[in-house]
Amino acid sequence: MLPGPKGLPIVGVAFDVRGDPLGVMRRYAREYGDIVCFHVMMQERILLNHPDFIEQVLVVQHSKFHKSELTRRITGRMLGQGLLISEGDFWRRQRRLAQPAFHRARVNDYAATMAEIAEDHISRWRDGEERNVSQDMMSLTLDIAVRTLFGTTLPGEAEQVGRAMTFLMRYSLRRQRFPVRVPETWPTPNNRRANQELAFMDSLVYRMIAERQAANGAAHHNDLLALLMDAMDEDGSHMTKQQLRDEAMTLFIAGHETTSQMLSWTWYALSQNPAIEARLHEELYGVLGGRVPEVADLQRLPYLQAVMNESLRLYPPAYILARMAIEPCQIGGYDIPLGSTILLAPWVTHRDLRFFDDPDAYRPERWLDGLMQRLPPGAYFPFGDGPRRCIGQGFALMEAAIVIGMLAQKFRLRLVPGHEVVPEPLVTLRPRNGIRMTLHARN
Ligand code: HEM
Repeated sequence: MLPGPKGLPIVGVAFDVRGDPLGVMRRYAREYGDIVCFHVMMQERILLNHPDFIEQVLVVQHSKFHKSELTRRITGRMLGQGLLISEGDFWRRQRRLAQPAFHRARVNDYAATMAEIAEDHISRWRDGEERNVSQDMMSLTLDIAVRTLFGTTLPGEAEQVGRAMTFLMRYSLRRQRFPVRVPETWPTPNNRRANQELAFMDSLVYRMIAERQAANGAAHHNDLLALLMDAMDEDGSHMTKQQLRDEAMTLFIAGHETTSQMLSWTWYALSQNPAIEARLHEELYGVLGGRVPEVADLQRLPYLQAVMNESLRLYPPAYILARMAIEPCQIGGYDIPLGSTILLAPWVTHRDLRFFDDPDAYRPERWLDGLMQRLPPGAYFPFGDGPRRCIGQGFALMEAAIVIGMLAQKFRLRLVPGHEVVPEPLVTLRPRNGIRMTLHARN
């Protein structure tokens, strides 16, 4: 290990991080410890692996950090200045504006719609058929987000959204990985396809907005889209058409992509652990007896909660968070210079032996005896922490509980023999070739 100029352990040039970022980050944590600096294409990255350091960035010293330039470069073209990457007073105002759509009472109101849409999707599933479950989860969570938050439907569009998102995530990550980038304006096949996919995504968001504008007066809406549009009407100087598009696009994407990955990884993990799956089913059947879960049931389903915690631990959809230091600061006694890019990786911290026994094993039981309360802050952060914590956490957990509760009572899902499931670290953690599974109806 070389001592770095700032006293930080320095890896040197991390050639290998581009090929296998998940494996390499874990190796760095193992070999270099709680803080490590490495360079990718001449750019410095500082990876923090201790919960105290993570809390410093997300909570204690949060005002010294912004979302990183890296995040902006990767997601900016799609999300614009939406909630996920905006900063300062503008971010605060937009967050306050959107918050009512995510209050606990509102999320509880969404539960019946979530169940109705899940019921509709599952009713088309047949015993013995083979399905790409990750595609199914994408289409289900997309329908749920669009109906609850935007008060509309996008029938038949889910598959194309899934394809567009996959392409755009791969495209923008690939662009970051190469030192010499062809300008986005050049008509290369990839640039052309990216423009087409972006135009498609834009067309969906603008269609949702236009539908609502056309229906104004005909129906009263109090969903997220109405909150955003009212703000624009009241004070056009604060929320332009472009800003409305950016917020709507951010919530449209954030509202379904991550939850869909969480559900896909859960089906995969259950299929690999039949005893856990059986215990989950026993609890579900004991409490629900085959019926659709309601809000009041959720707290009587501790094993289901444990399964969800464990899926988010081992397969965190937001597997890495990035920040940029906007002023010099100290973390764990190390000087962090202005402009440093800081990486926080749930993928790594959630597998730290100091906080999780047998960390690579899928063991929901670990959550049943108050582990969540015992963990130091910063050891488990699938939804981030501090002021930039996920606005949709309650929404996602409610949705996942309903979908798992309903589907697990109806079917047992088994991986198609020979189908290899490989995590692909895009903007979210996705299964590279989807998850092909066979359905077995339960009695
Ligand atoms: C399992 C599902 C989900 C996971 C794992 C997840 C994870 C996260 C994480 C880690 C962050 C913080 C990012 C950072 O600090 O850099 C975040 C922020 C955010 N999430 Fe989620 N999310 C999920 C579901 C949702 C849903 C359902 C919505 C909306 C309906 C949503 C909307 C957002 C938004 C708008 C932000 C930015 C908040 C802000 O900066 O003020 N997320 N999410």
